[in-house]
Amino acid sequence: MSRLVVVSNRVAVPGEDRAGGLAVGLEAALRTHGGLWFGWSGKTVREDSGRLHEQSEGDVRYVTMDLDRRDHDDYYNGFANRTLWPLLHSRLDLVDYARETREGYRRVNALFADRLAPLLRKDDAVWIHDYHLIPLAALLRERGIDCRIGFFLHVPMPSADLVSALPEHARLFGSLYAYDLLGFQTSRDADRFRTYARIFGRATIDGDGTVVLPGGGRVAVTSIPIGIDATRIASQSAAAVNKPAVRALRESLSGRLLAIGVDRLDYSKGLPERFRAFGRYIERHPSERGRLTFLQIAPVSRGDVAEYRHLRDQLEGIAGHINGTHAEPDWTPLRYVNRNFAHATLTGFYRAAKVALVTPLRDGMNLVAKEYVAAQDPEDPGVLVLSMLAGAAAELDAALLVNPYDLDGVADAIARASTMSREERRERWQSMMRPIAGSDIHAWCRQFLDRLAEVAT
Ligand code: G6P
Repeated sequence: MSRLVVVSNRVAVPGEDRAGGLAVGLEAALRTHGGLWFGWSGKTVREDSGRLHEQSEGDVRYVTMDLDRRDHDDYYNGFANRTLWPLLHSRLDLVDYARETREGYRRVNALFADRLAPLLRKDDAVWIHDYHLIPLAALLRERGIDCRIGFFLHVPMPSADLVSALPEHARLFGSLYAYDLLGFQTSRDADRFRTYARIFGRATIDGDGTVVLPGGGRVAVTSIPIGIDATRIASQSAAAVNKPAVRALRESLSGRLLAIGVDRLDYSKGLPERFRAFGRYIERHPSERGRLTFLQIAPVSRGDVAEYRHLRDQLEGIAGHINGTHAEPDWTPLRYVNRNFAHATLTGFYRAAKVALVTPLRDGMNLVAKEYVAAQDPEDPGVLVLSMLAGAAAELDAALLVNPYDLDGVADAIARASTMSREERRERWQSMMRPIAGSDIHAWCRQFLDRLAEVAT
Protein backbone atom coordinates (compact mmCIF):
# COMPACT_ATOMS: atom_id res chain seq x y z
CA MET A 1 0.00 0.00 0.00
CA SER A 2 1.35 3.42 -0.88
CA ARG A 3 2.08 6.06 1.74
CA LEU A 4 -0.64 8.63 2.44
CA VAL A 5 0.46 12.26 2.37
CA VAL A 6 -2.18 14.69 3.61
CA VAL A 7 -1.71 18.40 2.98
CA SER A 8 -3.89 21.04 4.59
CA ASN A 9 -3.39 24.54 5.88
CA ARG A 10 -4.52 23.57 9.37
CA VAL A 11 -2.76 20.63 10.97
CA ALA A 12 -3.94 19.12 14.25
CA VAL A 13 -0.52 18.58 15.80
CA PRO A 14 -0.73 16.26 18.82
CA GLY A 15 -1.85 17.85 22.04
CA GLU A 16 -3.88 20.70 20.52
CA ASP A 17 -7.65 20.96 20.51
CA ARG A 18 -8.78 22.58 17.31
CA ALA A 19 -12.12 23.95 16.29
CA GLY A 20 -13.13 23.10 12.72
CA GLY A 21 -14.33 20.01 10.94
CA LEU A 22 -11.32 19.58 8.71
CA ALA A 23 -8.72 19.08 11.44
CA VAL A 24 -11.02 16.83 13.47
CA GLY A 25 -11.81 14.67 10.43
CA LEU A 26 -8.27 14.37 9.13
CA GLU A 27 -6.90 13.58 12.54
CA ALA A 28 -9.17 10.56 12.79
CA ALA A 29 -8.37 9.45 9.24
CA LEU A 30 -4.60 9.70 9.70
CA ARG A 31 -4.65 8.01 13.08
CA THR A 32 -5.92 4.83 11.40
CA HIS A 33 -4.07 5.05 8.13
CA GLY A 34 -0.70 6.49 9.19
CA GLY A 35 1.36 8.69 6.89
CA LEU A 36 2.65 12.23 6.57
CA TRP A 37 0.64 15.36 7.40
CA PHE A 38 2.03 18.57 5.96
CA GLY A 39 0.76 22.10 6.53
CA TRP A 40 1.12 25.44 8.27
CA SER A 41 2.64 25.34 11.75
CA GLY A 42 0.04 27.79 13.10
CA LYS A 43 2.97 30.12 13.87
CA THR A 44 3.49 33.52 12.37
CA VAL A 45 7.14 34.52 12.50
CA ARG A 46 8.72 37.93 12.09
CA GLU A 47 10.51 37.08 8.86
CA ASP A 48 11.38 34.24 6.50
CA SER A 49 8.53 31.88 5.85
CA GLY A 50 9.28 28.26 5.18
CA ARG A 51 11.08 26.97 8.24
CA LEU A 52 9.98 23.39 8.86
CA HIS A 53 9.17 21.64 12.15
CA GLU A 54 8.83 17.95 12.49
CA GLN A 55 7.34 15.56 15.03
CA SER A 56 5.88 12.07 15.03
CA GLU A 57 3.21 10.27 16.94
CA GLY A 58 2.26 6.67 16.29
CA ASP A 59 2.40 6.15 12.54
CA VAL A 60 1.90 9.80 11.72
CA ARG A 61 4.73 12.16 10.85
CA TYR A 62 3.82 15.83 11.10
CA VAL A 63 5.83 18.35 9.11
CA THR A 64 4.69 21.94 9.49
CA MET A 65 5.92 25.22 8.08
CA ASP A 66 6.08 28.71 9.58
CA LEU A 67 4.74 31.69 7.69
CA ASP A 68 5.95 35.22 8.14
CA ARG A 69 3.57 38.05 8.95
CA ARG A 70 3.25 39.27 5.36
CA ASP A 71 2.60 35.81 3.92
CA HIS A 72 0.12 35.03 6.67
CA ASP A 73 -1.72 38.31 6.09
CA ASP A 74 -1.89 38.01 2.32
CA TYR A 75 -2.57 34.31 2.08
CA TYR A 76 -4.56 33.30 5.18
CA ASN A 77 -6.20 36.49 6.45
CA GLY A 78 -6.34 37.92 2.95
CA PHE A 79 -7.11 35.83 -0.11
CA ALA A 80 -8.16 32.60 1.64
CA ASN A 81 -10.41 34.12 4.30
CA ARG A 82 -11.44 37.52 2.92
CA THR A 83 -11.89 36.50 -0.71
CA LEU A 84 -12.39 32.76 -1.14
CA TRP A 85 -14.23 31.93 2.10
CA PRO A 86 -17.04 34.47 1.58
CA LEU A 87 -17.22 33.63 -2.16
CA LEU A 88 -17.52 29.90 -1.48
CA HIS A 89 -20.19 30.58 1.15
CA SER A 90 -22.20 32.68 -1.30
CA ARG A 91 -21.46 35.97 0.47
CA LEU A 92 -20.42 38.17 -2.43
CA ASP A 93 -21.25 41.18 -0.25
CA LEU A 94 -18.30 40.27 2.01
CA VAL A 95 -15.79 39.41 -0.71
CA ASP A 96 -12.75 41.65 -0.55
CA TYR A 97 -10.51 41.25 -3.56
CA ALA A 98 -7.02 42.65 -3.97
CA ARG A 99 -4.34 41.66 -6.47
CA GLU A 100 -1.78 41.89 -3.72
CA THR A 101 -3.39 39.20 -1.56
CA ARG A 102 -4.05 37.06 -4.63
CA GLU A 103 -0.32 37.17 -5.35
CA GLY A 104 0.39 36.34 -1.70
CA TYR A 105 -1.86 33.29 -2.00
CA ARG A 106 0.09 32.12 -5.07
CA ARG A 107 3.38 32.84 -3.37
CA VAL A 108 2.50 30.76 -0.30
CA ASN A 109 1.13 27.92 -2.40
CA ALA A 110 4.44 27.92 -4.32
CA LEU A 111 6.28 27.79 -1.00
CA PHE A 112 4.16 24.81 0.07
CA ALA A 113 5.17 23.14 -3.21
CA ASP A 114 8.87 23.98 -2.74
CA ARG A 115 8.97 22.54 0.77
CA LEU A 116 6.75 19.55 0.14
CA ALA A 117 8.22 18.32 -3.16
CA PRO A 118 11.51 17.02 -1.68
CA LEU A 119 9.54 15.00 0.91
CA LEU A 120 7.52 13.10 -1.67
CA ARG A 121 8.14 9.61 -3.03
CA LYS A 122 7.08 8.37 -6.41
CA ASP A 123 4.30 6.06 -5.25
CA ASP A 124 2.79 8.34 -2.57
CA ALA A 125 -0.91 9.09 -2.60
CA VAL A 126 -1.06 12.85 -2.03
CA TRP A 127 -4.35 14.24 -0.71
CA ILE A 128 -4.69 18.01 -0.60
CA HIS A 129 -7.46 19.70 1.34
CA ASP A 130 -9.58 22.78 1.04
CA TYR A 131 -9.69 26.25 -0.45
CA HIS A 132 -6.33 27.42 0.90
CA LEU A 133 -4.44 25.11 -1.44
CA ILE A 134 -6.37 24.96 -4.72
CA PRO A 135 -3.32 25.54 -7.01
CA LEU A 136 -0.99 23.20 -5.15
CA ALA A 137 -1.20 20.20 -7.50
CA ALA A 138 -0.43 22.37 -10.52
CA LEU A 139 2.58 23.82 -8.68
CA LEU A 140 3.80 20.36 -7.65
CA ARG A 141 3.46 19.14 -11.24
CA GLU A 142 5.61 22.11 -12.35
CA ARG A 143 8.24 20.79 -9.95
CA GLY A 144 8.22 17.39 -11.59
CA ILE A 145 5.99 15.55 -9.12
CA ASP A 146 3.99 12.91 -10.91
CA CYS A 147 2.45 10.85 -8.13
CA ARG A 148 -1.30 10.60 -7.66
CA ILE A 149 -2.81 13.79 -6.30
CA GLY A 150 -6.38 14.20 -5.09
CA PHE A 151 -8.19 17.23 -3.70
CA PHE A 152 -11.13 17.52 -1.34
CA LEU A 153 -13.15 20.71 -0.96
CA HIS A 154 -14.57 20.83 2.56
CA VAL A 155 -16.64 23.94 1.92
CA PRO A 156 -19.48 24.43 -0.57
CA MET A 157 -18.84 24.72 -4.31
CA PRO A 158 -21.04 27.64 -5.38
CA SER A 159 -22.72 28.10 -8.74
CA ALA A 160 -20.66 28.99 -11.82
CA ASP A 161 -22.34 32.41 -11.89
CA LEU A 162 -21.13 33.23 -8.44
CA VAL A 163 -17.61 31.94 -9.04
CA SER A 164 -17.38 34.03 -12.20
CA ALA A 165 -17.57 37.18 -10.05
CA LEU A 166 -14.01 36.45 -8.90
CA PRO A 167 -11.42 38.23 -11.06
CA GLU A 168 -9.20 35.63 -12.78
CA HIS A 169 -11.45 32.82 -11.55
CA ALA A 170 -10.56 30.71 -14.58
CA ARG A 171 -6.89 30.71 -13.62
CA LEU A 172 -7.58 29.65 -10.04
CA PHE A 173 -10.42 27.18 -10.56
CA GLY A 174 -8.77 25.96 -13.78
CA SER A 175 -5.81 24.84 -11.68
CA LEU A 176 -8.11 22.17 -10.23
CA TYR A 177 -7.73 20.31 -13.53
CA ALA A 178 -4.19 19.36 -12.47
CA TYR A 179 -5.60 16.87 -9.92
CA ASP A 180 -6.38 13.24 -10.67
CA LEU A 181 -9.48 13.28 -8.49
CA LEU A 182 -11.66 16.03 -7.03
CA GLY A 183 -13.88 15.25 -4.06
CA PHE A 184 -16.86 17.29 -2.89
CA GLN A 185 -19.14 16.99 0.12
CA THR A 186 -22.41 16.50 -1.74
CA SER A 187 -23.54 15.54 -5.23
CA ARG A 188 -24.85 19.08 -5.66
CA ASP A 189 -21.37 20.51 -5.06
CA ALA A 190 -19.87 18.03 -7.53
CA ASP A 191 -22.52 18.91 -10.13
CA ARG A 192 -21.88 22.61 -9.67
CA PHE A 193 -18.19 22.00 -10.38
CA ARG A 194 -19.01 20.03 -13.53
CA THR A 195 -21.25 22.84 -14.70
CA TYR A 196 -18.47 25.34 -14.01
CA ALA A 197 -16.02 23.20 -16.02
CA ARG A 198 -18.50 22.93 -18.90
CA ILE A 199 -19.14 26.67 -19.07
CA PHE A 200 -15.71 28.09 -18.33
CA GLY A 201 -13.39 25.19 -19.19
CA ARG A 202 -15.31 24.12 -22.34
CA ALA A 203 -15.21 20.61 -20.87
CA THR A 204 -17.54 17.74 -21.61
CA ILE A 205 -18.74 15.33 -18.95
CA ASP A 206 -18.31 11.56 -19.29
CA GLY A 207 -20.92 9.01 -18.31
CA ASP A 208 -19.27 8.50 -14.91
CA GLY A 209 -19.08 12.23 -14.23
CA THR A 210 -15.43 12.68 -15.21
CA VAL A 211 -14.59 16.13 -16.57
CA VAL A 212 -12.95 15.86 -20.01
CA LEU A 213 -11.05 18.94 -21.14
CA PRO A 214 -10.82 20.12 -24.76
CA GLY A 215 -7.15 19.03 -24.90
CA GLY A 216 -8.08 15.51 -23.73
CA GLY A 217 -7.11 15.91 -20.05
CA ARG A 218 -9.43 14.13 -17.61
CA VAL A 219 -10.33 14.87 -13.99
CA ALA A 220 -12.45 12.43 -12.04
CA VAL A 221 -15.08 14.12 -9.87
CA THR A 222 -16.82 12.49 -6.96
CA SER A 223 -18.90 13.33 -3.92
CA ILE A 224 -18.11 11.63 -0.62
CA PRO A 225 -19.62 13.30 2.44
CA ILE A 226 -17.08 13.56 5.26
CA GLY A 227 -18.06 11.54 8.33
CA ILE A 228 -17.04 11.29 11.96
CA ASP A 229 -15.51 8.66 14.18
CA ALA A 230 -18.96 7.62 15.42
CA THR A 231 -17.85 4.73 17.64
CA ARG A 232 -15.26 6.84 19.40
CA ILE A 233 -17.66 9.72 19.98
CA ALA A 234 -20.33 7.42 21.38
CA SER A 235 -17.93 5.94 23.92
CA GLN A 236 -16.35 9.31 24.69
CA SER A 237 -19.70 10.94 25.37
CA ALA A 238 -20.87 8.10 27.59
CA ALA A 239 -17.66 8.38 29.60
CA ALA A 240 -17.78 12.18 29.70
CA VAL A 241 -20.91 12.33 31.88
CA ASN A 242 -18.66 12.13 34.91
CA LYS A 243 -16.27 14.86 33.85
CA PRO A 244 -16.41 17.77 36.28
CA ALA A 245 -17.24 20.30 33.54
CA VAL A 246 -20.14 18.18 32.28
CA ARG A 247 -21.47 17.52 35.75
CA ALA A 248 -21.22 21.20 36.66
CA LEU A 249 -23.15 22.12 33.54
CA ARG A 250 -25.93 19.64 34.31
CA GLU A 251 -26.22 20.75 37.91
CA SER A 252 -26.31 24.41 36.92
CA LEU A 253 -29.48 23.83 34.89
CA SER A 254 -31.67 23.26 37.98
CA GLY A 255 -33.83 20.79 36.09
CA ARG A 256 -34.32 22.91 32.97
CA LEU A 257 -33.68 21.43 29.52
CA LEU A 258 -30.49 22.33 27.70
CA ALA A 259 -30.24 23.40 24.06
CA ILE A 260 -26.74 23.63 22.63
CA GLY A 261 -24.93 25.24 19.71
CA VAL A 262 -21.20 24.77 19.03
CA ASP A 263 -19.67 26.72 16.16
CA ARG A 264 -16.58 28.66 15.30
CA LEU A 265 -17.45 32.35 15.54
CA ASP A 266 -18.07 32.65 11.80
CA TYR A 267 -20.67 34.58 9.80
CA SER A 268 -21.48 31.46 7.78
CA LYS A 269 -22.86 29.80 10.90
CA GLY A 270 -25.96 31.99 11.16
CA LEU A 271 -25.42 32.91 14.81
CA PRO A 272 -27.22 36.30 14.85
CA GLU A 273 -30.22 34.66 13.19
CA ARG A 274 -30.06 31.74 15.65
CA PHE A 275 -29.95 34.03 18.68
CA ARG A 276 -32.88 36.02 17.34
CA ALA A 277 -34.81 32.85 16.58
CA PHE A 278 -34.26 31.74 20.15
CA GLY A 279 -35.63 35.09 21.37
CA ARG A 280 -38.58 34.60 19.03
CA TYR A 281 -39.16 31.13 20.53
CA ILE A 282 -39.45 32.62 24.00
CA GLU A 283 -41.93 35.21 22.73
CA ARG A 284 -44.02 32.84 20.61
CA HIS A 285 -44.30 30.09 23.20
CA PRO A 286 -45.10 31.80 26.51
CA SER A 287 -46.29 28.55 28.09
CA GLU A 288 -42.80 27.12 27.58
CA ARG A 289 -41.10 30.06 29.22
CA GLY A 290 -38.20 29.02 31.43
CA ARG A 291 -38.13 25.37 30.30
CA LEU A 292 -35.07 25.66 28.12
CA THR A 293 -31.63 27.19 28.57
CA PHE A 294 -29.59 27.72 25.43
CA LEU A 295 -25.80 27.35 25.63
CA GLN A 296 -23.93 28.69 22.63
CA ILE A 297 -20.23 27.85 22.52
CA ALA A 298 -18.49 29.95 19.87
CA PRO A 299 -14.68 30.00 20.02
CA VAL A 300 -13.22 33.05 18.35
CA SER A 301 -11.96 32.30 14.86
CA ARG A 302 -9.90 34.32 12.35
CA GLY A 303 -9.88 37.25 14.74
CA ASP A 304 -7.56 39.32 12.51
CA VAL A 305 -10.25 39.57 9.86
CA ALA A 306 -12.51 42.60 10.30
CA GLU A 307 -15.77 40.83 9.39
CA TYR A 308 -15.18 38.32 12.20
CA ARG A 309 -14.54 41.06 14.75
CA HIS A 310 -17.66 42.84 13.61
CA LEU A 311 -19.67 39.63 14.06
CA ARG A 312 -18.37 39.27 17.59
CA ASP A 313 -19.51 42.79 18.49
CA GLN A 314 -22.86 42.15 16.90
CA LEU A 315 -23.43 38.91 18.83
CA GLU A 316 -22.56 40.52 22.12
CA GLY A 317 -25.28 43.09 21.44
CA ILE A 318 -27.90 40.51 20.51
CA ALA A 319 -27.06 38.18 23.42
CA GLY A 320 -27.26 41.10 25.86
CA HIS A 321 -30.58 42.16 24.38
CA ILE A 322 -32.10 38.68 24.63
CA ASN A 323 -31.05 38.18 28.24
CA GLY A 324 -31.95 41.76 29.17
CA THR A 325 -35.42 41.28 27.73
CA HIS A 326 -36.22 37.75 28.87
CA ALA A 327 -34.06 36.74 31.83
CA GLU A 328 -35.49 36.18 35.30
CA PRO A 329 -33.57 36.56 38.55
CA ASP A 330 -33.11 32.78 38.53
CA TRP A 331 -32.92 32.10 34.78
CA THR A 332 -30.48 33.25 32.10
CA PRO A 333 -32.02 32.02 28.84
CA LEU A 334 -28.88 32.37 26.72
CA ARG A 335 -25.39 31.45 27.86
CA TYR A 336 -22.84 32.64 25.38
CA VAL A 337 -19.26 31.40 25.71
CA ASN A 338 -16.35 32.34 23.43
CA ARG A 339 -13.84 29.76 24.60
CA ASN A 340 -13.08 26.34 23.21
CA PHE A 341 -13.37 23.05 25.13
CA ALA A 342 -11.57 19.74 24.84
CA HIS A 343 -13.32 17.60 22.27
CA ALA A 344 -14.15 14.87 24.81
CA THR A 345 -15.81 17.43 27.09
CA LEU A 346 -17.88 18.73 24.19
CA THR A 347 -19.23 15.24 23.54
CA GLY A 348 -20.41 15.21 27.18
CA PHE A 349 -22.12 18.58 26.66
CA TYR A 350 -23.82 17.19 23.55
CA ARG A 351 -25.18 14.26 25.50
CA ALA A 352 -26.48 16.54 28.21
CA ALA A 353 -28.37 18.67 25.66
CA LYS A 354 -31.89 17.69 24.66
CA VAL A 355 -31.81 19.98 21.63
CA ALA A 356 -28.99 21.00 19.28
CA LEU A 357 -29.23 24.08 17.09
CA VAL A 358 -27.10 23.70 13.97
CA THR A 359 -28.39 26.44 11.72
CA PRO A 360 -25.66 27.70 9.36
CA LEU A 361 -26.63 29.95 6.46
CA ARG A 362 -24.33 27.84 4.29
CA ASP A 363 -22.01 24.99 5.26
CA GLY A 364 -20.01 22.40 3.32
CA MET A 365 -21.00 19.59 5.71
CA ASN A 366 -21.08 20.50 9.43
CA LEU A 367 -19.63 17.82 11.63
CA VAL A 368 -21.15 19.21 14.84
CA ALA A 369 -24.52 17.97 13.54
CA LYS A 370 -23.16 14.44 13.15
CA GLU A 371 -21.22 14.49 16.40
CA TYR A 372 -24.26 15.66 18.36
CA VAL A 373 -26.29 12.72 17.07
CA ALA A 374 -23.49 10.18 17.70
CA ALA A 375 -23.06 11.46 21.26
CA GLN A 376 -26.68 10.83 22.30
CA ASP A 377 -27.95 8.26 24.74
CA PRO A 378 -29.73 5.78 22.41
CA GLU A 379 -32.50 5.27 24.97
CA ASP A 380 -33.25 8.93 25.47
CA PRO A 381 -31.75 10.89 22.57
CA GLY A 382 -31.99 14.62 21.99
CA VAL A 383 -33.30 16.33 18.87
CA LEU A 384 -31.24 17.92 16.13
CA VAL A 385 -32.57 21.14 14.59
CA LEU A 386 -30.60 21.38 11.35
CA SER A 387 -30.32 23.97 8.59
CA MET A 388 -31.38 22.67 5.21
CA LEU A 389 -28.48 24.75 3.83
CA ALA A 390 -25.83 22.59 5.50
CA GLY A 391 -24.32 19.70 3.52
CA ALA A 392 -25.25 17.39 6.40
CA ALA A 393 -28.96 17.89 5.62
CA ALA A 394 -28.63 15.63 2.57
CA GLU A 395 -27.94 12.65 4.85
CA LEU A 396 -29.67 13.73 8.07
CA ASP A 397 -33.14 14.29 6.73
CA ALA A 398 -34.63 12.84 9.92
CA ALA A 399 -33.50 15.96 11.78
CA LEU A 400 -35.95 18.83 12.18
CA LEU A 401 -34.90 20.64 9.03
CA VAL A 402 -35.25 24.41 9.07
CA ASN A 403 -34.46 27.36 6.87
CA PRO A 404 -32.15 29.48 9.05
CA TYR A 405 -33.49 32.72 7.53
CA ASP A 406 -37.01 31.86 8.70
CA LEU A 407 -36.79 32.92 12.34
CA ASP A 408 -40.36 31.94 13.15
CA GLY A 409 -39.76 28.53 11.59
CA VAL A 410 -36.65 27.99 13.70
CA ALA A 411 -38.48 29.23 16.81
CA ASP A 412 -41.26 26.70 16.22
CA ALA A 413 -38.75 23.91 15.58
CA ILE A 414 -37.13 24.65 18.97
CA ALA A 415 -40.53 24.35 20.62
CA ARG A 416 -41.27 21.13 18.78
CA ALA A 417 -37.85 19.65 19.60
CA SER A 418 -38.14 20.42 23.30
CA THR A 419 -41.55 18.76 23.62
CA MET A 420 -41.07 15.79 21.28
CA SER A 421 -42.08 12.34 22.55
CA ARG A 422 -39.36 9.88 23.39
CA GLU A 423 -40.69 7.51 20.75
CA GLU A 424 -40.35 10.08 17.95
CA ARG A 425 -36.94 11.11 19.22
CA ARG A 426 -35.74 7.54 19.11
CA GLU A 427 -37.09 6.94 15.62
CA ARG A 428 -35.46 10.06 14.27
CA TRP A 429 -32.21 9.27 16.05
CA GLN A 430 -32.08 5.75 14.65
CA SER A 431 -32.56 6.91 11.10
CA MET A 432 -29.87 9.57 11.50
CA MET A 433 -27.45 7.05 12.99
CA ARG A 434 -27.66 4.81 9.92
CA PRO A 435 -25.66 7.11 7.59
CA ILE A 436 -23.50 8.37 10.48
CA ALA A 437 -22.38 4.89 11.52
CA GLY A 438 -22.48 3.47 7.98
CA SER A 439 -20.26 6.09 6.35
CA ASP A 440 -17.95 7.22 9.10
CA ILE A 441 -14.62 8.99 8.80
CA HIS A 442 -12.75 5.79 8.04
CA ALA A 443 -15.11 4.94 5.19
CA TRP A 444 -14.72 8.49 3.84
CA CYS A 445 -10.95 8.14 3.80
CA ARG A 446 -11.03 4.66 2.30
CA GLN A 447 -13.51 5.57 -0.42
CA PHE A 448 -11.54 8.61 -1.50
CA LEU A 449 -8.20 6.78 -1.55
CA ASP A 450 -9.63 3.74 -3.36
CA ARG A 451 -11.07 6.01 -6.02
CA LEU A 452 -7.79 7.91 -6.28
CA ALA A 453 -5.89 4.64 -6.78
CA GLU A 454 -8.38 3.61 -9.44
CA VAL A 455 -8.35 6.80 -11.50
CA ALA A 456 -4.61 7.16 -11.48
CA THR A 457 -3.82 3.72 -12.84
C1 G6P B 1 -13.45 25.18 8.09
C2 G6P B 1 -12.52 25.01 6.91
C3 G6P B 1 -11.19 24.43 7.35
C4 G6P B 1 -10.62 25.21 8.51
C5 G6P B 1 -11.63 25.31 9.65
C6 G6P B 1 -11.12 26.14 10.83
O1 G6P B 1 -13.86 23.94 8.55
O2 G6P B 1 -13.12 24.21 5.91
O3 G6P B 1 -10.27 24.43 6.27
O4 G6P B 1 -9.43 24.62 8.99
O5 G6P B 1 -12.81 25.91 9.14
O6 G6P B 1 -10.72 27.42 10.41
P1 G6P B 1 -9.22 27.92 10.59
O7 G6P B 1 -9.17 29.19 9.75
O8 G6P B 1 -9.04 28.16 12.04
O9 G6P B 1 -8.30 26.86 10.08
